[in-house]
Amino acid sequence: MKEIILKTTVGVCKYEELTPADCKLVDAARKATDSSYAPYSHFNVGAAAMLTNGEIITGSNQENAAYPSGLCAERTALFSAGTRFPEQAVTAIAIAARNEQGELPRPISPCGACRQVMLETESRHSQVMRIILYGKECCYIIEGGAKELLPISFDANYL
Ligand code: THU
Repeated sequence: MKEIILKTTVGVCKYEELTPADCKLVDAARKATDSSYAPYSHFNVGAAAMLTNGEIITGSNQENAAYPSGLCAERTALFSAGTRFPEQAVTAIAIAARNEQGELPRPISPCGACRQVMLETESRHSQVMRIILYGKECCYIIEGGAKELLPISFDANYL
């Protein structure tokens, strides 16, 4: 049997080492945690998407008593960007989270459904998005975009 070896490249750095542009996007994601509605998990997530026209569109997780009806911060931001600026590609997305103790020391990573939506956002505009995951002690940067986080993925080509 042959094997396919999958490789994901993740840059690791401190917040202070981020470029000013990445810091700005990360700060927008951190700020977006303030608008999170998370009465069930008490886990506040913020996402900020940078568009080709320079707009930053933010989103936060919005929970619901019927749990699956809620939506993650990443999809809230990306669907909002798609609604407000359907012609604009997303060049980067930053994600930040905090719990009742405050901001998390390590970055959180988007869930599978959000990765799928990130992938479609990329293919829709033929634009890979830089993914910046914020943690108080370290940040992850995935230059290669959603494909790096979701290999062997399903997309419209299979339909
Ligand atoms: N959540 C996000 O918004 N983004 C993620 O990347 C992971 C999880 C939300 C969903 C739910 O409201 C809460 O965090 C706990 O899972």
